[in-house]
Amino acid sequence: MPRRRKRDLIIKGFSKLLKEDKLRIVAELMDNQVETIELLKSFWHSDDSKQKIFDEFSENTISNFYIPYGVAPNVMINGKTYLVPMVIEESSVVAAASSSAKFWSEHGGFHSQVVDVIKIGQVHFLWKGDGDKLRAKFPELTKRFRDAVKDITANMEKRGGGIVGFELLDLKDKLKDYYQIKVSFNTVDSMGANFINSCLEEFAEVLKKFLAADPALGNEECTVIMSILSNYTPECLVKTWVECDFDELENIDENLTGEQFAFKFQQAVNIAEIDIYRATTHNKGIFNGIDAVAIATGNDFRAIEAAGHTYAAKEGQYKSLSHVEISGNRFKFWIEIPLAVGTVGGLTSLHPLAKHSLEMLGKPDAKELMMIASTMGLANNFAAIRSLVTKGIQKGHMKMHLFNILNHFNATPEEKQQAQKFFADKKVSFVAVKDFLNKIRNR
Ligand code: MEV
Repeated sequence: MPRRRKRDLIIKGFSKLLKEDKLRIVAELMDNQVETIELLKSFWHSDDSKQKIFDEFSENTISNFYIPYGVAPNVMINGKTYLVPMVIEESSVVAAASSSAKFWSEHGGFHSQVVDVIKIGQVHFLWKGDGDKLRAKFPELTKRFRDAVKDITANMEKRGGGIVGFELLDLKDKLKDYYQIKVSFNTVDSMGANFINSCLEEFAEVLKKFLAADPALGNEECTVIMSILSNYTPECLVKTWVECDFDELENIDENLTGEQFAFKFQQAVNIAEIDIYRATTHNKGIFNGIDAVAIATGNDFRAIEAAGHTYAAKEGQYKSLSHVEISGNRFKFWIEIPLAVGTVGGLTSLHPLAKHSLEMLGKPDAKELMMIASTMGLANNFAAIRSLVTKGIQKGHMKMHLFNILNHFNATPEEKQQAQKFFADKKVSFVAVKDFLNKIRNR
């Protein structure tokens, strides 16, 4: 009989154990118990009260996972200049954003406009009744909805938000007996997930009672399947752009005139409009910038990505989120993207560095943060395409990656210095760095 591996064990009641016990169990499952405990503990915060905050963000926390916290300077948006915090592990992203930000700060800066800030929640239910009859009673039902959540919405209304509207969707042609109550919300500066979900769960209760209590609606049973916000927020939308004359693009590449660069750049974006393989990578480059800001400010980057990718496919085919327009000798590069972010609530004030990031950005409201995050998406996208259509991506990329490779081989500071000098005009690769280190180590 094959020997049962240690890691195949089912651990019961793990979440109820003390952190030290969880750590011990994890270590026991590893081959190197002492080192495991030492390693995981070495990443604990030295201040117990701060560590407790991190422990409580999640469940079964046994350590912290570090990711670099960097800043991109010179980010000029609508005439205001920001120092933008970016949390990301990929070496070239902050460098790309910074170089793009610097370039555009000398060419009019980024321009940004929030189109709208509406978020959506849905109560999905099955009901055999007559949709037209329910529609006739919908104003009465929505009044009951609003009454039921008065306590929850009062505060949000004071801040200028609340429930924007209700829609009844009869979707029986798509799924047997399926209806939906689609609710629009304005959650002002909060991401609003808890607010929306709390309202929706109340609406579900009201709906069930309403349908059961009115014989004119046929006494048909209503089954609420689920009540949940949608992370697709096409009406929580921001548009951000840069523009300049061809002659301002003149010095980007020694082999291309400004006009040639503009058209080559446009073709690269056009390819991402028609080819889903390229579009995915193109948009990934955009999210390099957006996610880094989202994480630095304590926002939910998974929600943001999900919305962005759905938006990219809104016309039935997945496409680039950014676009180029050339008219006369003017180049315009723009992005339109849904960005549901918050600057109050959630992690934004609980995570000490998220709080710091927002302070560094001058305590923006949610609309301003939408403009900042989309700008970093566009900045990274510009830098990526600029490299791709000129010198290629690997040169800069691998230069940034050089330190990761050197660290992999435990290079000393002196070796790093020598390597930096040596690779200044050479292509960096894992093998080339390995060979270089072997050579200088065996001298
Ligand atoms: C790498 O993280 C992102 C890029 O691949 C984006 C792109 O190709 O546009 C450079």
